[in-house]
Amino acid sequence: MDPQPRKVRQVVEPQTVMEGAGVRLKRSFPTGVLDYPDPFLLFDHFGSENPDDYMAGFPLHPHRGIETVTYVLAGRVRHGDTLGNSGTIGPGDVQWMTSGGGIMHEEMPESDQDRMEGFQLWVNLPASLKMSQPRYQEIPSDTIPKIDGEGGVTIRIIAGMVNGVGGPVTEIAADPVYMDVSVPANGSFRHSIQRGHSALAYVFDGEGSFGVGDGGNGERVGAPKMLVFDDGDYVEIHTSGQPVRFLLMSGKPSHEPIVRYGPFVMNTQAEIQQALRDLRDGTFVR
Ligand code: FE2
Repeated sequence: MDPQPRKVRQVVEPQTVMEGAGVRLKRSFPTGVLDYPDPFLLFDHFGSENPDDYMAGFPLHPHRGIETVTYVLAGRVRHGDTLGNSGTIGPGDVQWMTSGGGIMHEEMPESDQDRMEGFQLWVNLPASLKMSQPRYQEIPSDTIPKIDGEGGVTIRIIAGMVNGVGGPVTEIAADPVYMDVSVPANGSFRHSIQRGHSALAYVFDGEGSFGVGDGGNGERVGAPKMLVFDDGDYVEIHTSGQPVRFLLMSGKPSHEPIVRYGPFVMNTQAEIQQALRDLRDGTFVR
C-alpha cells in the first residue's frame, strides 16, 4: 500500500488560562474540546509583552509520573530543582525534564526583559517508568540542529530525525518527534511519522494548509491553533501567500489509564493519594 497522508482530525482554539502563581497562558489541552492526545498530557503557549502576565512565574512545585518540555522563543526562564540543577533557559533553548518518581522545581521568568514567549509540553511516562529516577536534559540552542529543507524550509530538530540528522533529545519512552518548522510562502513540507503514533502540530505564526495529500487540499489554519492528525504515514503542509511556523510533535501512545491531579499524572487514584502522602510526609523526593 502507498504511504497514506494523515488528515487533520481536530482543530483546537487555545484557551486563556491562569496557572502557577498567576501566569496567563494559551492552553490547547487539556481543554473542554481536547482532553489528551496520548502520550501528550498538556500543551501551553506563554507569550506576552506585559510582565503582569508572566512575572509571578511557577514557584517551587512537585511533579511525578511525567516529563515536562520547555522551549523558549524569547525571554529567559530561571530554574532550579531538587536534583541540584539550576540555570537559565533562553531563546532557542530546551529543557526536557523527566520527573520520574518525584522532583521539585521552580520556573521563574527573569525580570529584565520586555517579552516572554515559549511553550510547555507534558509527556506521559508509561507505568513502568512513573517511579523511575528523575532525569534532566538541558539543550542549549546552539546544539539543536537546524536543517535547511527544500524550497527554503527550515527545521530545528529537538527530537526525531530529518534526512539522517537526529535531535539531541534521546532515550525518551514515548519515542517523540519535536521539531520547530518554518515554511516560506508558496512552500511545502512533508514528514514521515510512524503509524500508530499520535501526531500534533501547533501553529504559532502565519498560516498554512495542513493534512494535504492524496488529492485532498487539507485544512487551512492560521495561528494560534493546535491540530490533531488522524493516523497515517506522513504529514504534509502547504503554504500559499503567507509563511507558516509550527511545532510538529508525535509520540507513542501509552494506552494506559491515567489519573491526573495537578502536577501528578499516575495510573490509579491510589497512586495519587500516595503522592499527596509523600508530599505531606516529606518523602516525595527520594
Ligand atoms: Fe513544573
